Amino acid sequence: MDKKIFTTGWEDYELIDAGGGKKLERWGSVITIRPEVQAYFHSGLPFSEWEQKAHWEYKATGKQSGKWKNLRRAPEEWTISYKSLTFQLELTKFKHLGLFPEQKLNWDLAFDKLDSDSKFLNLFAYTGAMSCVARSKGAETFHVDSVKQLINWASINMELSKLLNIKWVHEDAVKFISRLEKRGEKFDFIVMDPPAWGIGRKNEKWRLEDKLDQLLGSAANILSKDGVLVLNTYSPKVDIEFLEELAPLYFSDRNYAVNELWMKTTSQKELFYGVLLRVGI
Ligand SMILES: C[S@@+](CC[C@H](N)C(=O)[O-])C[C@H]1O[C@@H](n2cnc3c(N)ncnc32)[C@H](O)[C@@H]1O
Repeated sequence: MDKKIFTTGWEDYELIDAGGGKKLERWGSVITIRPEVQAYFHSGLPFSEWEQKAHWEYKATGKQSGKWKNLRRAPEEWTISYKSLTFQLELTKFKHLGLFPEQKLNWDLAFDKLDSDSKFLNLFAYTGAMSCVARSKGAETFHVDSVKQLINWASINMELSKLLNIKWVHEDAVKFISRLEKRGEKFDFIVMDPPAWGIGRKNEKWRLEDKLDQLLGSAANILSKDGVLVLNTYSPKVDIEFLEELAPLYFSDRNYAVNELWMKTTSQKELFYGVLLRVGI
C-alpha cells in the first residue's frame, strides 16, 4: 500500500523545482534557492533558469553555517499568509526562513478539527504557525519550545495574525509533557515535531530515538478519548517501520495511520519530507 501523502493547496508558497541537492521555492513574491539533501535526483529546470528566477541563494560554509547571497533586489524579512494568518519570514544563518511549508497538511487538519471548546498542545513548536491555527479557532493553546528567541518569533506571528492569549512555555518538551501527565491533564489535539537531536532549555541534549517511547507514552496518557495526535519526524533513525512498530504499543485501541510526507514540485518532481503518525483522524 502506498504510504505517501502530499501537502497541497498552498497559495502563498510554491515548491517550484528540486534536484542536485537543492530546491527552488517561492515564498509570496520572494524566490529562494536552499540546500536539500532529499533532492538527490536531477532538477526539472536548468540551474541557469533557477538563478534568473531567484532573489536569494543560501550557500553552506559548514555543517551548520552558511551565507545568503543576494541575486536580485528583495527584502531580508517579509511575510506570507495562510488563510487569515500572517507569518514572518527572515533569512537565518541556518538556511531556515521560519516556516516549514510541508506542515500545511497538519495545519489543515487542526483547522478542521479544532473549535473554541478544544484544548491544544504544540510541542517543539518553533515559530508557532500551528499554535496560530489553533488559536484562530478559539482553542486554549499551549506552545512549548526550549529556545527563547523562537518563542519571541512565535509571539510576532501571533500579533501579525491579530490573535491573543497563546500560552508560552519555555521548557524541555519531555519534562513538560511528563508534568502534564502527573497532573492528569487532557488535551483534544496534540502535535509534536521533534528534531533528531533535542536540546532542552538548560542545553540538556537527547537523541529522538531514545526519547520517542517516553514522549508517545505520555502523549497517549494525556490525549482525550476522541483526541487527535500528530507526530512528525524527519530523523534518519526514526523511519516509517520504526513508527509502525511503536504506534500499536500506545494506540492499539484507536484509529491511526503512519505515512510518509511528500510535496510535489511545479516541475513534477516529488520531494520527501519525513514520516507522520496521526491518531484519531
Ligand atoms: C523542526 S522544529 C519544529 C517545527 C514546527 N513543527 C513548525 O512547523 O513550526 C523543532 C523545534 O524543536 C525545538 N526543540 C528542540 N529541542 C527541544 C526540546 N528538548 N524541548 C522543546 N523544544 C525543543 C527547537 O527549538 C525547534 O523550534
